[in-house]
Amino acid sequence: MSPEQACLFRWAEARAREVFDLFEFSEIRTPLLEETEVFTRSIGEDTDIVEKEMYSFPDRGGKNISLRPEGTASIIRAYIEHGWNASQDIVKLYYMGPMFRGERPQKGRLRQFHQIGAEMIGASNPYIDAELILNLEAVLKNIEVEGFRIVLNSLGCVEDRTAYKKKLSDFLKSRGADLCEDCRRRSSVNVLRVLDCKKEVCISVVKDAPSIMDHLCEKCADDYGTLKTVLEDMAVSYEENDRMVRGLDYYTGSVFEVRHPGLGAQDALAAGGRYDNLTRDMGGPDVGATGYAIGVERMLMVVNEDKVPASSHGVLVIALDEACRLEAIKLTQRLRSREIKCDMDHSGRSLKGGMRKANREGRKKVIILGEDEVKSGKFMLKDMESGEQKALSFEEAVKVLAESRQI
Ligand code: HAM
Repeated sequence: MSPEQACLFRWAEARAREVFDLFEFSEIRTPLLEETEVFTRSIGEDTDIVEKEMYSFPDRGGKNISLRPEGTASIIRAYIEHGWNASQDIVKLYYMGPMFRGERPQKGRLRQFHQIGAEMIGASNPYIDAELILNLEAVLKNIEVEGFRIVLNSLGCVEDRTAYKKKLSDFLKSRGADLCEDCRRRSSVNVLRVLDCKKEVCISVVKDAPSIMDHLCEKCADDYGTLKTVLEDMAVSYEENDRMVRGLDYYTGSVFEVRHPGLGAQDALAAGGRYDNLTRDMGGPDVGATGYAIGVERMLMVVNEDKVPASSHGVLVIALDEACRLEAIKLTQRLRSREIKCDMDHSGRSLKGGMRKANREGRKKVIILGEDEVKSGKFMLKDMESGEQKALSFEEAVKVLAESRQI
């Protein structure tokens, strides 16, 4: 990552943190490496991630470990390990950092990418889903992302889904020959993924497929209905898509994606949903949970860069000759001790070279230090826009620089 990209990332992360703090989420940092089982048990053996995308290898002791492909599984592992359910409260956590998936790289799809995510663990109710979506919307808005759409669906509980999968399989059996090769395979191992295929042939088959909406039990339908009512009441716009499924197996009930038209084929910049069985299935207490993750690289592809503050340089100290360098380095340190952002021109080429560097970096002020200045104890402070220069004492220079926001 280049310094410019790192700067943008740092800004986005800081903006996200402001919102997490406002919503009273606490940060969690999980290891990059986990025992492979943490992911296989949670994400699902038949998912693309576990089947072919994880970076897994034996460690020195022969234990199979993997680079984390996502954050949720490790967080639940930590929740169980540390007994965080003891408080009986909802645990609200957020995280940010790199994830790894060995996918075929393309626009918006990387092998090492970053996520900013949040999880609310401890109960299952639609108001928690609503708060989480409100949080996601607030994070995106604070990062100056505009023009996104929130797409909702419910995948129902395990019982609903089992019944629905059977209906869908039966439907696809009669139309199987019309599906793409991948989907012919998927229809026996992970049939819901057929709904998600972007190929024209599959889209036209799936158009007539039964809808999960007709297979939701009363509780799942009520929870989904309440979530929609709360979002409408809170003026959160969303659209529904009963064909939207997720690439991870742990979801139950309401799920969502945030899509952006500026992204092309990989148009989901964030996704998440409820996963009420995961904690229990991983050996922990039977508590509901919900969460989301934003793909940072994808999000930054559509961020309104006009609103992103440009990184700024402070004042550049230019020593006119070798003899003044020691004074110049002392001066930069004195300026820094007064919170004045500054750098020294180390090229030592010439005044011209130093000025060229200041121009290139868009600096507003430079300090020129020659033999006369060292003797008099005054420095030449030059304004790059007006070309005006003044001999000032250190205190006078600090005052001008602080006022002109060179800090
Ligand atoms: P996911 O849908 O696999 O969900 O990933 C979330 C987001 O990460 C995607 O919408 C996308 O923006 C980004 N992303 C995924 N793979 C890549 C990639 N190869 N390159 C670039 N960006 C990518 C999860 O990871 C779940 N853990 C979300 C969640 C949290 N559900 C509940 N809690």
